[in-house]
Amino acid sequence: MEKHDIKTDAGLFRTMEERHSVKSYQTGVTIPDTEIRSMIEMATEAPSSWNLQHWKFLVVDDEEQKEKLHRIAYGQNQVKECSVVIAVLGDTKANEHADRIFQEAVDKGLITEAVKEKIVNGINGAYNGSETFPRDEAFLNASLAAMQLMLSARGLGYDTCPMGGFDREAFVEEFNVPERYVPVMLLTVGVRAEEPRISSRLSVDEAMVRNTF
Ligand SMILES: Cc1cc2nc3c(=O)[nH]c(=O)nc-3n(C[C@H](O)[C@H](O)[C@H](O)COP(=O)(O)O)c2cc1C
Repeated sequence: MEKHDIKTDAGLFRTMEERHSVKSYQTGVTIPDTEIRSMIEMATEAPSSWNLQHWKFLVVDDEEQKEKLHRIAYGQNQVKECSVVIAVLGDTKANEHADRIFQEAVDKGLITEAVKEKIVNGINGAYNGSETFPRDEAFLNASLAAMQLMLSARGLGYDTCPMGGFDREAFVEEFNVPERYVPVMLLTVGVRAEEPRISSRLSVDEAMVRNTF
């Protein structure tokens, strides 16, 4: 069977196939702020648990700050060459958004005030009842936004590299990251200078299990 021998949204599939981690960028390229904002806007279209939107994007385009980040990312070349690094952070206190988010539903007449209270109390209960839950949720939901950001960058003709290889403690300290946020990954964004190395994938048969193990 051909790889896409089915009816697909060709544009979306192509964008997903075209995205690869680019580690060498054309230097001196400025990405217009409108495009950066579009990428972030599309990232925030990601789904999130209870729609709590557990993400924050720290956009680093100042040369001195990038230099700092380059050191923190163990000297990885892509941080230096790219146009901008977007640090995706997860919010461990995203439950604090709940009241505002569900109030909107009340204002639109979608739910009653009593239902809102019940949902918000449930969310706060989940957050207060476990040490690991807030952090797991922050990583899970911010990662979905990061993926959308990479695809929207590709859709605008840019390339990215997701990066987990950086000193998280130093990052938090040197970029004054408030305690509620956990660094999830860095994304370099820019115009490729070289074609990315094409990475292979395990087969669908290896990746997929049907119904039960
Ligand atoms: C969470 C995460 C962390 C990663 N960290 C790094 C990194 O620190 N440095 C790097 O060069 N690539 C990093 N990568 C890129 C992976 O090596 C790459 O996604 C993988 O080899 C597949 O290649 P592709 O993205 O080109 O398809 C990371 C990817 C992910 C998803």
